[in-house]
Formats: sequence, C-alpha cells, structure tokens
Amino acid sequence: MSVHKEIKKVTTNVLQEMKRKGEKISMLTAYDYTMAKIVDHAGIDVILVGDSASNVMAGHETTLPITLDQMIYHASSVVRAVDRALIVVDLPFGTYQGNSKEALNSSIKIMKESGAHAVKLEGGQEVTESILRILTAGIPVMGHLGLTPQSIYKFGTYNVRAKEELEAAKLIEDAHALEKAGCFAIVLEKIPAKLASQVAKELTIPVIGIGAGGGVDGQVLVFHDMVGLTHEFNPRFLRRYLNLYDDIKGAVGKYINDVKSTDFPNANEQY
Ligand code: KIV
Repeated sequence: MSVHKEIKKVTTNVLQEMKRKGEKISMLTAYDYTMAKIVDHAGIDVILVGDSASNVMAGHETTLPITLDQMIYHASSVVRAVDRALIVVDLPFGTYQGNSKEALNSSIKIMKESGAHAVKLEGGQEVTESILRILTAGIPVMGHLGLTPQSIYKFGTYNVRAKEELEAAKLIEDAHALEKAGCFAIVLEKIPAKLASQVAKELTIPVIGIGAGGGVDGQVLVFHDMVGLTHEFNPRFLRRYLNLYDDIKGAVGKYINDVKSTDFPNANEQY
C-alpha cells in the first residue's frame, strides 16, 4: 500500500519516506478554514499557507506587503481545519532576511501562535545561517529556489529562472546548501524541467516543483489558480481542474435575478 494511504498524519519523515519509495508528494496552498478542510479531507499531503495570500486573498500585486500577523491569522484558520496534512507556513518578506535571530523569532512566533508544523523561506546560501538557527528551536524548514516572488524587484519579471548556465549552476549549489543546512524539503519554482529533475536526483530530501516539470518528487499549485477562482493568471504550468470564477459568477447572477424578480424567497423558504 502507498505511504499516502497508510498515514494518519503527514510528518516531515513521511515525506522523506515517500521520496525514498518514489511516491509523489501532493501539495496545495490554503489560507482559510473552509477551503483547508476540503483540501485536507481530499487527502492532500502538504498544505502551504503561502504568502501568495498577499495576491489571492488581499489583492496585492506582489507577495511583499503581507505581514507576519496576517500570515499567522491565515495559518491558525488552516490549523483549526486540518487533521492529516503537514502544514507549512511561509515566512513573509522582511521577517527573516535581516539576520538569523530575526528569522528564529519570526519562526517561533508563527509556530507558537498558529500551531503550524513547519516554515518555508526563500533563498539559497544567503539564508543557510538562518535555517541553522531556526532548526536549533526544533522547527522544520522548507527551502524555496528558482523564481522566488519575494525578490521580484530584483528579477524584474516572473519569467522562467535559471535558463542560463551560470544561474543553473548557482541554483544547484544553493539546493545542496539548503539540504546541508537541514531543510526537510525544497520548492523549485518555474525553472527548466531538466534542471529540476537533476536537482531532485542529486538531493536526498524531497524536491517539490511548481512549473518545474514532472521529474521532481512532488507538485504544488496555488489553490485559487487550480480551481479557477482566478482567471487572469494563465502560466503554461497551470492545470485548472475547475472554472469556479465562471460558476460562482453565474450563480451570483442567478441569485440577483431571483431577488429582483421576487422569485426568492418562495413560500417554502420563509417562516
Ligand atoms: O506562496 C506560495 O503560494 C508559494 C508557492 C507558489 C510555492 O510559495
């Protein structure tokens, strides 16, 4: 039987066992109680309370504005809903880059106030000191390389990263540095599939991809994109399983008509 089916609670060790057995890891974002409950009941392995909440929940253009307290609000709502999945929370921009003490304090605050199971941060060798320090408190850390949205103003675009040899070589070095520092897994975002597959083969920890092809150990998507709640974001890597934007808009349209025409409420829908 697959590790996925046997497991009552997903831990970082379970994910590593899944990699060893060649069983793919499923991961989705969630930011609120109701959606997290559905995603957990469906059997997802990992829920990421991503700082993409800044975009899809708050309407910001980038992930930079979201605060630590706002991430804790989202994460604690998710924690109340979830029985089985491992819950990972993004350390938001500006709460860990300053120094490793700040990174540790932010991670402790997230873990203590939300009840989540792990944190994620963006960057390579420049954040390994922080990873080591966070680990001293017993907090598992997930890394994130490739397109790291908190650095959007350095990159200038959301285009595919590490297409050139130099950047690809640096990404491989960074991936090894994250593993050596003690990350239990890493996310690779929007990089060539061949490069991602090489990293997944070289590392012993799970490598979870978004726009990084099928040769990695698992996949993550932003929930709102995957169910089609967002409809203007159409990268090649995105598979939409539903078109909820149109479905919800249609339902709201019908409701408006029913109210205006006095069809709603009918005799059975009142006291
Ligand atoms: O914030 C987020 O949703 C993420 C995923 C895209 C990996 O970091």
